[in-house]
Amino acid sequence: MEPLRIALLGGGTVGGAFYALVQERLPDFHALGFAPEFLGVLVRSLDKPRAIPESLLRSRPFDLSEADVVVEALGGVEVPLGLVRPALEAGIPLITANKALLAEAWEALRPFAEEGLIYHEASVMAGTPALSFLETLRGSRLLELHGILNGTTLYILQEMEKGRTYGEALAEAQRLGYAEADPSLDVEGTDAAHKLTLLARLLVDPGFPLTQVEVQGITRLTPEVLKRAEAQGERVRLVASLYGEGGRWRAAVAPRRIPQDHPLAQARGNALWVRAHPLGEALVTGPGAGGGATASGLLADLFRLLAGSPGHLPAPAPRPPLAEGSPFPGVP
Ligand SMILES: NC(=O)c1ccc[n+]([C@@H]2O[C@H](COP(=O)([O-])OP(=O)(O)OC[C@H]3O[C@@H](n4cnc5c(N)ncnc54)[C@H](OP(=O)(O)O)[C@@H]3O)[C@@H](O)[C@H]2O)c1
Repeated sequence: MEPLRIALLGGGTVGGAFYALVQERLPDFHALGFAPEFLGVLVRSLDKPRAIPESLLRSRPFDLSEADVVVEALGGVEVPLGLVRPALEAGIPLITANKALLAEAWEALRPFAEEGLIYHEASVMAGTPALSFLETLRGSRLLELHGILNGTTLYILQEMEKGRTYGEALAEAQRLGYAEADPSLDVEGTDAAHKLTLLARLLVDPGFPLTQVEVQGITRLTPEVLKRAEAQGERVRLVASLYGEGGRWRAAVAPRRIPQDHPLAQARGNALWVRAHPLGEALVTGPGAGGGATASGLLADLFRLLAGSPGHLPAPAPRPPLAEGSPFPGVP
C-alpha cells in the first residue's frame, strides 16, 4: 500500500466535509493501493468544535513540502496563493474549490494549470460535473453557454417568486446558512463572474480576463418584476453567459428573463446549458454548494490524480467564436 500524504488547508464547511468523506471512502483508496494520511489541517481557530482530530489541526501554516497533494478549502486569494505557490513550484499538485483564487490570481497560477498541476472541479457547481462536462465538449465547438452558477441568488429569486421582498429572502438565506454574513460576492454577481471566467478559460481562451466579464447583480430586483415575468411565461434568474458577438467572445452575468419551458428555467439547482457544434444542446444540473456536494468534487479530483490524469487544462489557444449567440433578454 502506497502512502498518500494530504495537506488540507481549511477545516470549515468544505474542508471538514472533505476530511470526513476521505474517512468514509477509505476502502476505495485501499482498493486503488493507497493509504491516505493527513499531514495537517490548517484552520484559524483551534477552539471551534469540529469533527477533525485535534492532533491534526494547525493554526499556523505548516510545511507542505512533504505532501503528495495539497487540498485547498480556505477561501480568499492572497493567503491561499502564498501557501500553494511554493508547493506548486515544487511540483506538488493542488486540488481546490476556490474560484476566487483561480479567477483573480490567474497570472501566477496559469503556468501550473498548463502543467496539469491544478484540479478544480469543485470550484464551479461543487460536485456537479461542470468542468468535466465542458472538457467532453472539446470534441465540439462552443456556440453559446448559459449557466445558473450561484445557489444563493437562485434561492433568493425562488423565494421572491413566492412574494418575499429581496431583503426578506436574503435574510432567510442568511438564517439558513446559504448566504454569508457579507453576501455581496453572491448578490452582486461577482461569484458567478469568477466561475464564468474559469469556464471561458477552459473552453475558449486560456487568458480570458476576469475584467472582461460584465457584471450586474440582483439587488435591485423586486417581487413585481418577477411576477410580471411570470405573467409573460418567463422566469428571472441570474445567468452567466458566454456567447459570440461581432467575432469576439462576450461574457456577462446579469438577471435575465428565461422562457419557462427552457431547461435552464426548469432547473431546481445550479445548471449549465450549452449549444455546440456538432453536439447540439446539452444540460447539466445539480447542487452547486454545500459541504458534502463540494467535498464530492474535491474527492473526484483526487481520484483523477491517483488515476494519473492531469488537472483541468486551460484551452490550448484562444479560439474565435464560430457563430453569433445572444444572452436571454435582460430585466428592464
Ligand atoms: N461552502 C460551499 O458550499 C462551497 C462550495 C463551493 C466552493 N466553496 C469554496 O470552498 C472554500 C471554502 O469554503 P467554506 O464554505 O468551507 O468556508 P469556511 O467554512 O469559512 O471554511 C474556511 C476554513 O479555512 C480556515 N481559514 C480561513 N482563512 C484562514 C487563514 N487565514 N488561516 C488559517 N485558516 C484559515 C477557516 O478556519 P476556522 O474554521 O478556524 O475559521 C476554516 O476552517 C472557498 O473558497 C469557497 O468559495 C465553498
